[in-house]
Amino acid sequence: MSVTLGIDIGTSGTKTLAIDERGTILASASAEYPCNHPRPGWSEQDPELWWDATIKTVQAVLGQGRFKAADVAGIGLSGQMHGSVFLDGAGKVIRPALLWNDQRTAVECAEIEERAGGREALVRLVANPALTGFTAPKLLWVRKHEPMAWDQVRQVLLPKDYVRYRLTGTYATEVSDASGTLMLDVAHRRWSTELLGKLDLDPALLPPCYESPEVSANVSALGASATGLIAGTPVVGGGGDQPAGAVGNGIVRAGVVSATMGTSGVVFAHTAELGFDPLGRLQRGCHAVPGAWHVMGVVLAAGGSFQWFRNELGKAEVEQAKRQGIDPYFLLTDEAATVGPGAEGLFFLPYLTGERTPHFDPHAKGAWVGITVRHSRGHLIRSVLEGATYAMRDSLELIREMGVAIQQVRVSGGGARNPLWRQIQADVYGHDVHTLQSTEGPALGVAILAQVGTGGYSTVAEACDAIIRLEEKTELDPRGQAFYDRGYAIYRQLYQDLKESFRKIGRLVEE
Ligand code: XUL
Repeated sequence: MSVTLGIDIGTSGTKTLAIDERGTILASASAEYPCNHPRPGWSEQDPELWWDATIKTVQAVLGQGRFKAADVAGIGLSGQMHGSVFLDGAGKVIRPALLWNDQRTAVECAEIEERAGGREALVRLVANPALTGFTAPKLLWVRKHEPMAWDQVRQVLLPKDYVRYRLTGTYATEVSDASGTLMLDVAHRRWSTELLGKLDLDPALLPPCYESPEVSANVSALGASATGLIAGTPVVGGGGDQPAGAVGNGIVRAGVVSATMGTSGVVFAHTAELGFDPLGRLQRGCHAVPGAWHVMGVVLAAGGSFQWFRNELGKAEVEQAKRQGIDPYFLLTDEAATVGPGAEGLFFLPYLTGERTPHFDPHAKGAWVGITVRHSRGHLIRSVLEGATYAMRDSLELIREMGVAIQQVRVSGGGARNPLWRQIQADVYGHDVHTLQSTEGPALGVAILAQVGTGGYSTVAEACDAIIRLEEKTELDPRGQAFYDRGYAIYRQLYQDLKESFRKIGRLVEE
């Protein structure tokens, strides 16, 4: 039996699973940890929490008795992207890691754009504009605001690569996660010495960069004694959580696109060529598939908007669901299902934490527009589901504009579990949507990459063809599509109409 492990270092917890060569899940375990917000917009985590959670979950998976440590042929690592772990010359963590959702670096982003010679020049170098969550602006922030700490920094790692370091003693990363640092020459799949030069950053701060299925290191004696794994077990490059999740959803060929509605919503497409958009409206990067790239759009509060509704306005359903032992989201969507498409003219803008794609606007805010006395809670709920889905369509439209032909849409995350939301997605996207048998996402994706890297399969596509199965198809309703096409035009205009007001509201609250 050729067992591989996938370890996903998420923002709220770490998940480890084990698969055999056919992709059967043999064991899985997860462990949660907190995230610190020392100031509004700041987001930090102690990297030690990731290592502790890795130890716990690997031990738990081995402890389930379905296979032995000696059966583990390889390990794949995945994790929250864009974070930065700062290490000194002895490999010790200098300060808490700054995470992907940390918003403190607006000034540094402007500085990077300027040093690169403008947005278009920057996009030509690293395929992306400077976004506050990305890694490079965080380095500039620490250099400027914490010079004593910066003086000690000898190595900067992404979250999953810190776990690799603890497990193997080796500094390494891979191209898909490195694409989110703003320091990778994405076209040539190597660090951009040109941009690093312009930013006065020493390339020696960054680890060697591998392809995602390539073996990057082996479990060390120390890593083995902490986890129960066998020293020498190969660890492949792995992937950032989005590209790794895409492998887990089988997005490894042109034309197949995923729409994942978790707290954030991500529309992800595999592309055979990198392509170019001078405005950098979509995130572009190396795919975890060697020789391929990806484009993706990120909606910051897709499922997050529904989560907010449940927490703030669905307390009664939460209580009722607890009594009945069911999921409160199903009670809420039952209420939404009593209302027709368009919620009788009620629109919801899901910009509860600003927006990334397509607006790159931290000042954007949520809104209900069109409310009348006829509207009930069912309308409010339906409008939230529709608004989050319209926001996902913005990314899908940009992907279409970049010339990516969309043949199949695969949906996953909370938004795929519910039949009503699946139908809304099919009709808003203008495409049938498919669910998948496995919903394990990134951890499964990197376990598959480890199968490829240790000889179980010769390519990632071959492994996905053997392992990933579609489950259910929700067909597009042409009448629904025609209606939502008209609704989408109004939705798009609403952000433009309200953009200035969002800024004024922001200033009012700060005053
Ligand atoms: C991707 C992104 C998030 C993080 C955390 O660009 O910001 O998906 O990787 O999950």
